[in-house]
Amino acid sequence: MSHADDHVGTRRDFLYYATAGAGTVAAGAAAWTLVNQMNPSADVQALASIQVDVSGVTPGTQITVLFLGKPVFIRRRTPEEIEAGRAVEVSELTDPTAQNPNLQGAQPATDENRTLDEAGEWLVQIGVCTHLGCVPIGDGAGDFGGWFCPCHGSHYDTAGRIRRGPAPQNMHIPVASFLNETTIQLG
Ligand code: FES
Repeated sequence: MSHADDHVGTRRDFLYYATAGAGTVAAGAAAWTLVNQMNPSADVQALASIQVDVSGVTPGTQITVLFLGKPVFIRRRTPEEIEAGRAVEVSELTDPTAQNPNLQGAQPATDENRTLDEAGEWLVQIGVCTHLGCVPIGDGAGDFGGWFCPCHGSHYDTAGRIRRGPAPQNMHIPVASFLNETTIQLG
């Protein structure tokens, strides 16, 4: 099978996820007037920030939303996933940096530095393999219980950190925060 065929399969998965997640996304810009439509910067502003309702995301499940043209995985991890992520030493990692712009400067890729909340339940990451940009498969895929990119065989762990394969970096984390208990803002 050619790489092009691989990408067809990945693309189909991605479109499915994007459609499934669309109902949970609310644009950050509430007002949308004719004047705003005439203003080119309005498009940018509307896309620069979205709010995602995560009230239906139970432990052990994830949703995928589209943000700034890329899929974002929002996973609510199980206690077992958290424990597995926290048992890993940074010295074992291919990429020792958290890849988390929500932290000050470059921080180590501890499990705690990868998640959105202190308890470590919520992992929000850009669902793009850092090798050549395929969308990895989730829900415990791969040899480390996290995500697997079938394009060239990159395995990510339960914190989205690259553990085996050609990808050079952990999956990147977007700017994100909780607005309230059930709403995550991206951007
Ligand atoms: S694009 Fe993911 S392993 Fe190559």
